[in-house]
Amino acid sequence: MNLVLVVVVKNLKNVVGRNLMNTVLSKIDYNYPDMIQIKKAANILKKGGLVAFPTETVYGLGANGLDSKACEKIYQAKGRPSDNPLILHISEISELYKIVDIIPNNALKIINKFWPGALTLIFKKSNIIPYEVTGGLDTVAIRFPKHKIAQLIIREANLPIAAPSANLSGKPSPTRASHVKDDLYGKIDMIIDSGYSSVGIESTILDFSTDIPTILRPGVITIDMIENEIGKINVDNAIFKKIGENIVPKAPGMKYRHYSPKAKFILVKGSISNVVERINIIASNDEKNGLKVGIMATNQTFNMYKCGTILNIGDRNDIKTIASNLFSVLRKFDFLGVDVIYSEVFDEFGEGMAIMNRINKASGYNYIIV
Ligand code: TXA
Ligand code: MG
Repeated sequence: MNLVLVVVVKNLKNVVGRNLMNTVLSKIDYNYPDMIQIKKAANILKKGGLVAFPTETVYGLGANGLDSKACEKIYQAKGRPSDNPLILHISEISELYKIVDIIPNNALKIINKFWPGALTLIFKKSNIIPYEVTGGLDTVAIRFPKHKIAQLIIREANLPIAAPSANLSGKPSPTRASHVKDDLYGKIDMIIDSGYSSVGIESTILDFSTDIPTILRPGVITIDMIENEIGKINVDNAIFKKIGENIVPKAPGMKYRHYSPKAKFILVKGSISNVVERINIIASNDEKNGLKVGIMATNQTFNMYKCGTILNIGDRNDIKTIASNLFSVLRKFDFLGVDVIYSEVFDEFGEGMAIMNRINKASGYNYIIV
């Protein structure tokens, strides 16, 4: 009997464990980075392995950006569609000249002003970049992150590092190492933990491969900040619209729903007092019907909700804090297993545009107007 049990357990391990690998978890102090751990991470990358590491926007899942086999592993681990190109991360501006043929003057102005930082730029790619990185496109996305640990790992690997957000496809981007662990433990070689990602949402994407530069994804580096440097730019219309047959975003990844909670996610729009009143009514009805309700509140409204599981996303007058908390609050609702989430909305200008872009996509533009 016992022997049978052992055999069954062993076989189960073989079945379940076939795709599982030993993921090394490593804490690195931001202020006093342990270079032995940094070198370990860099060596894994050089050998074609996968390392999740922190950046100031969100955690990235890194691989050697010149090695198509290593990049294929990223798609497998994330369950990412292969037409969705990766961003290459560099740690010196001079590296850009090795992977891009033409850098327009306007791009140099933007680079001098905003790099390192939460900004990804798209250029025509050079021949050394494999099409596995660019999803078959002739352009390549490049970012120079500000995060010291990210910079050290990239510099030590001495390679452009392909790194999408380190989440399973369809889940919110990870802003903490624990989020990466939840999604990718056993599927990648190493996870570096250096605390939370302070910006909290992914970088702004600015495409310089077109005559007039175009924003493909809004972030905390805003349209105004960019136009202050180089004048009028274009904004991909798909940022503001529900993706459908007639709306095809220029960044392939923007067509996918980024957060598919088991819960229904509903946005309530109107004056704050009306929004709170309506959410209180619907939430209490839902609870009477046996549903577990989540409410995404702000400092200003947190005490005004009367039922449900209320999570505070921050001060609505400090949109940077809202950005920083957004994905971890969405993940927490998932963890708590709510059936429905009601959320307030935010003004759609400046950094608010980036917040609303993520929330709109997460909810599938599911609105109640009050
Ligand atoms: O903040 C960030 O950008 C994070 C950190 C890790 O750097 N990375 C990130 O990567 O958000 P990912 O893969 O989750 O999102 C990259 C987006 C996708 O929507 C992808 O379609 C788009 O950039 N993209 C990449 N290369 C592109 C290209 N050549 N043309 C158009 N869009 C591109
Ligand atoms: Mg992503």
